[in-house]
Amino acid sequence: MLTNHLLEGKKGIIFGALDEHSIAWKVAEKAYAEGARFVLSNAQIAVKKGDIFNLAEKTDAQIIPADITDIQELEQLFIKTMEIFDGKIDFILHSVGMSPNVRKQIHYTELNYNWYMKTLDVSAMSLHKVLATAKKLDAIKEWGSVVTLSYIGAVRQFSSYSDMSQAKAMLESIVRSFGYHYGVAKKVRVNAISQSPTKTAAGSGVKGFNSFYSYANCMSPLGNADADACADFCMTLFSDYSKMVTMQTIYHDGGYSNMGISDNLINNCFNCTGDCKE
Ligand code: NAI
Repeated sequence: MLTNHLLEGKKGIIFGALDEHSIAWKVAEKAYAEGARFVLSNAQIAVKKGDIFNLAEKTDAQIIPADITDIQELEQLFIKTMEIFDGKIDFILHSVGMSPNVRKQIHYTELNYNWYMKTLDVSAMSLHKVLATAKKLDAIKEWGSVVTLSYIGAVRQFSSYSDMSQAKAMLESIVRSFGYHYGVAKKVRVNAISQSPTKTAAGSGVKGFNSFYSYANCMSPLGNADADACADFCMTLFSDYSKMVTMQTIYHDGGYSNMGISDNLINNCFNCTGDCKE
């Protein structure tokens, strides 16, 4: 793996590595190669699945399970992490999302509201909880960097993305609001990466994911960004080379977000003549 020692000496917490396809998994591998050391955290049930132990071994990381919606567990996680590293940390990856409504393929017009709350709590409010806990414990160094993962469904309608659209919209709003307050108080940076459809457990859980994936891939001038490329981009946001970037949602999608229609779609991928509406 090509490395530039971009994160030499930096310490962090990486949330959300479930298996080798997870975006957080690739981020952990690259961050380790770039010289960072970190704690891996995930929900107890994901840790029980077991894959994360392979990652921990490869990256010389300790695993501290935490339900990211539980403030007490988050406090313990930050306290233990600061003990391990003998001080404050430099970066956090928040790579967590889950919707029971999406999983169970409930139609958007018939959402289960308890599950809706769960979606918002796990996928969006958890970022606020992580940031609030870190700020309260003064756990992040000045110029530290927090990165979360979003999707363009935050601002456009994707038919089966369902309540995750609201979760991502809220997530991106928290990036702006908390990014402001944490920036003023401690010069801590908070950004979201709005990532292409990516073949992971969370991604594939969305009904019609293959169409999301191939449509975006055909439309984007560079094609879809994969998890490896996303991890590369995370390195720059954790590094000191992006010090003045905060409160942003940055599209990492091969150009998809600025497209209308592409030659590729016209010539190769789109055969419908419009009769489907008649
Ligand atoms: P993934 O399924 O590998 O990661 C999701 C992680 O969230 C898992 O590790 C899961 O254990 C964790 N999680 C769920 N509930 C939790 C809880 N209560 N406490 C702690 N952790 C919890 O899938 P992926 O794709 O790597 O997802 C990472 C992030 O990237 C998510 O926010 C997702 O929405 C976002 N994203 C994914 C895209 C895709 O197409 N895969 C596209 C754009 C954004």
